[in-house]
Amino acid sequence: MEQHFGLMNASRNDLDAWWMPFTANRAAKRDPRLIASAEGMTYCTPDGRRLLDGISGLWCCNAGHNRAPIVAAIQDQAARLDYAPPFQFGHEGAFALASRIAALAPGDLDHVFFCNSGSESVDTALKIALAYRHARGEGGRTRLIGRERGYHGTGFGGISVGGLPANRKAFGHGLSGIDHLPHTYDREQQAFSIGEPEWGAHLADDLERIVALNDASTIGAVIVEPMAGSTGVLAPPKGYLQRLRALCDRHGILLIFDEVITGFGRLGFAFAAERYGVVPDMICFAKGVTSGAVPLGGVIVREAIHAALMQGPERAIELFHGYTYSGHPLACAAGLATLDLYRDEGLFERARTLEPVFAEAVMSLREEPNVLDIRTIGLAAGIDLAPSADAPGARGYDAMVHAFNVNDLVIRISGDTLSLCPALIVSEDQIGELVEKTRAMIRAVA
Ligand SMILES: Cc1ncc(COP(=O)(O)O)c(C=O)c1O
Repeated sequence: MEQHFGLMNASRNDLDAWWMPFTANRAAKRDPRLIASAEGMTYCTPDGRRLLDGISGLWCCNAGHNRAPIVAAIQDQAARLDYAPPFQFGHEGAFALASRIAALAPGDLDHVFFCNSGSESVDTALKIALAYRHARGEGGRTRLIGRERGYHGTGFGGISVGGLPANRKAFGHGLSGIDHLPHTYDREQQAFSIGEPEWGAHLADDLERIVALNDASTIGAVIVEPMAGSTGVLAPPKGYLQRLRALCDRHGILLIFDEVITGFGRLGFAFAAERYGVVPDMICFAKGVTSGAVPLGGVIVREAIHAALMQGPERAIELFHGYTYSGHPLACAAGLATLDLYRDEGLFERARTLEPVFAEAVMSLREEPNVLDIRTIGLAAGIDLAPSADAPGARGYDAMVHAFNVNDLVIRISGDTLSLCPALIVSEDQIGELVEKTRAMIRAVA
């Protein structure tokens, strides 16, 4: 194990100290999967193996790894301005990046609040929703609606509206006044869907039941991922998001899209909102905004919400919220360089062009052993494997380990569901390589 660290000359204790997030720590430290460097679609291990990155880092390195213009922008920024306080002061990069992001967002989503992660973006959006209600004299509209199987990060706000039981059950009651829409997946109706499933738009109507039960006057906002990513890639049924928007409008409920995964090209557009022609009231983003190079998140807010909060004496703070590192100079420099790359290389359009190629390639796995379902949308795919008897999650875990150790491939698992989400720079050959490595891995854990 020590040899993995080579120059660091680390002892076993060095593995003990880092409590790894969302990781089977004891197993991982017995057989660590270490990554030393990266370039484009490839990772390199400390012992020189080259691995195909099948998941864009963690759904974030959408422009590929270690892209020269992003690296240069970070280096240059670090040498000029390491930090500037965002409370009462500012720097050029944050204003410039906010303007660029607002320009990419649809409709009058014109104002950007920066934070550092997807989890913080969700907390921020929920807090803005509540502050907006308060400012309008609707302080009773505090109820927040999420969705089963939703993932909105790990803050208390995010796990409260989130709908993944494992992320909630050990952590108490979370926020009060939360309700959940049903998830949108039904294997009998939707198995092996390419793109948006035909079945399921009516599931949005469940919002009517929640409204009838609680009254609209108690409901502040609904938050959903346009495509539920972390749970295993559930595309929205055709018409679902449009229906949700109409119902929210009917009852005066704010609609928040958590686009932490779908933002910045994953579905072939800057935002899923554009793909579906649905303008939410707020968009949460993170990950792809800097292609994963520096942590950055944020919320894009519609004009009317922002305007409602720009009230009171001019020298008084309008929103008591923010982070020391909101709009950090390095993150903003990385973000600006990343948006340039997306534009100059046409990467969102590229993802759109590759979508059918990717879907067809991944669907070729449907006859492989234990494959129960495959779903694809944009450059994302979820593959459900049959759980091993009495050991749910074990086959998925073994697949991920085998992929890394034997197939030279990095994938993501959620229980026995595998996710693939290559960077938008992926070539058709690399899509083929990704699928063949995945095939070998699935056979190995049969
Ligand atoms: C939809 C969504 N929201 C929020 C988050 C949380 O982001 P972070 O891990 O940056 O806090 C994620 C992370 O995967 C996500 O997929």
